[in-house]
Amino acid sequence: MRIYLTEDYDAMSRRAANLISAEVIRNPSCVLGLATGSTPVGTYKQLAAWNQRGDFSFKEVRSVNLDEYKGLAPTHDQSYRYFMQTNLFDHIDIDVNNTNVPNGLAADPVAECARYDELVRSLGYADLQLLGLGRNGHIGFNEPADIFVKETHVVDLTQSTIDANARFFASADDVPRQALTMGIGCIMAARRVLLIASGADKADAVYNAFCGPIDPHCPASILQLHSDVVLVGDKAALSKLVAAGVPVCE
Ligand code: F6R
Repeated sequence: MRIYLTEDYDAMSRRAANLISAEVIRNPSCVLGLATGSTPVGTYKQLAAWNQRGDFSFKEVRSVNLDEYKGLAPTHDQSYRYFMQTNLFDHIDIDVNNTNVPNGLAADPVAECARYDELVRSLGYADLQLLGLGRNGHIGFNEPADIFVKETHVVDLTQSTIDANARFFASADDVPRQALTMGIGCIMAARRVLLIASGADKADAVYNAFCGPIDPHCPASILQLHSDVVLVGDKAALSKLVAAGVPVCE
């Protein structure tokens, strides 16, 4: 595992964008696993800037997103499809037909999860899976639980996640209580995992994920078993790892 320590959020975003663009340049038709939330916004902005400047192209890239809120239409301004359009896809030369986000409006969400699992499998899984990290250690919407769930599934969001995501909605009551999320199986099948973290409120989750026991109560801890994980975090997010003496590069 390689850990890059960066000065701040902007430097984290540039480093993550560098790693993603390197993947796209090396393999123009790669499969990118993508995340939403606040953390990747700067990374997506940087990728869009380099793409618009003509440094590399997303024309042949395929993408699979981690998750979607159950019950939100793709046009809802808090849906993850809308997030991806407005933060990345609308600003780069990707073919939107090659982008995939679970359908939060599916009449049969369980069947939709099975379809999504099969889709990710048929694409050969992600060449590079970008992940953010929940304060409770979640990845995608794999919430702390007694077991790691392998398949794409419908999940009940924990109160901690509802509270954390309430900032995007008019009130906590408006945050959907369920989501469809890629399971741990698809995430672990990615050839490389790139986890990004910023801010002091992620320091405990980062520490628990990489220094704690492998435990489904901290879902990200499963990444200790992946053979190619890159963690890019700013000083605040990595403070507890650094204090514990974990070696990092800059
Ligand atoms: C989003 C996702 C979540 C977020 C996590 C961190 O697709 O899968 O796991 O990455 O909740 O969110 P932010 O970046 O908003 O702190």
